[in-house]
Amino acid sequence: MLIARSVADLRQALAPYRRPAFVPTMGNLHDGHIALVRQARPLGDVTVTSIFVNRLQFLPHEDFDSYPRTWESDCAQLQGAGCDVLFAPREADLYPEPQTFKVHPDPRLADMLEGHFRPGFFVGVSTVVMKLFACVLGATGGTAVFGKKDYQQLMVIRHMVQQFALPIEIVAGETHRAADGLALSSRNCYLGLQERQEAVALSQALQQLAQRWRHDPAPGAEQAAAWEKQALDALRSRGWQPDYLTVRRRADLTAPSPQDMPGALVALGAARLGATRLIDNLEF
Ligand code: PAF
Repeated sequence: MLIARSVADLRQALAPYRRPAFVPTMGNLHDGHIALVRQARPLGDVTVTSIFVNRLQFLPHEDFDSYPRTWESDCAQLQGAGCDVLFAPREADLYPEPQTFKVHPDPRLADMLEGHFRPGFFVGVSTVVMKLFACVLGATGGTAVFGKKDYQQLMVIRHMVQQFALPIEIVAGETHRAADGLALSSRNCYLGLQERQEAVALSQALQQLAQRWRHDPAPGAEQAAAWEKQALDALRSRGWQPDYLTVRRRADLTAPSPQDMPGALVALGAARLGATRLIDNLEF
């Protein structure tokens, strides 16, 4: 695996190739990331992964400084997964000057849910992904693989690619889960032993919410709100601080209307357990 630390080195490494398949990450890789790399491999003539902890997508009180940097383990896992090129730019390479030119996603998609609780998050994500796309796929176009675990992020990136007519195909990867059902996440390593046992309650809450819709499809807005409140209260009573637990249309993440039946919906949730904020979702 070739490691490119600068944009110039990356471009040189990719010059012989016509269609890279790309998996952007912030490192601290787990089996979910590695599955995305394996999924990407047959989709291009060279497989590229990036590791870059993007300051722009963290709020001042968030964990940018303490975000786990696990270089040796990340490299070993990528090597084992058959990644050809690892792009790991230093901050000074990707942001040689303050990044004042930013990509602002459609607020109708980006200001709800994650964007509501983490203002500016999707501006930071869209800006770095646009820049990573320019570095990795700018010369050729190609394919990029994003996990469904970050469901809203995937939708924002798809919309960006469509609106800017980027010659990039976005492919979605399924969420990987631990044996008990907890979605794999780089932030799971923050959980203490007891918190780790409790953490599965978030995905269970989403399953229960989806189950109510399956039993009683097309509830009115009032009924849907009552179910969501019950789900939030249940998590609170277990010691969580939930931001949201909600059912939305898969197509645009707006609230479902009675015509939107299971099969077109997704339950999404974000909640804090101790100091760790977890997110998850379930298509149904
Ligand atoms: O999902 C992530 O790890 C990040 O948001 C991404 C897409 C690599 C941008 O920094």
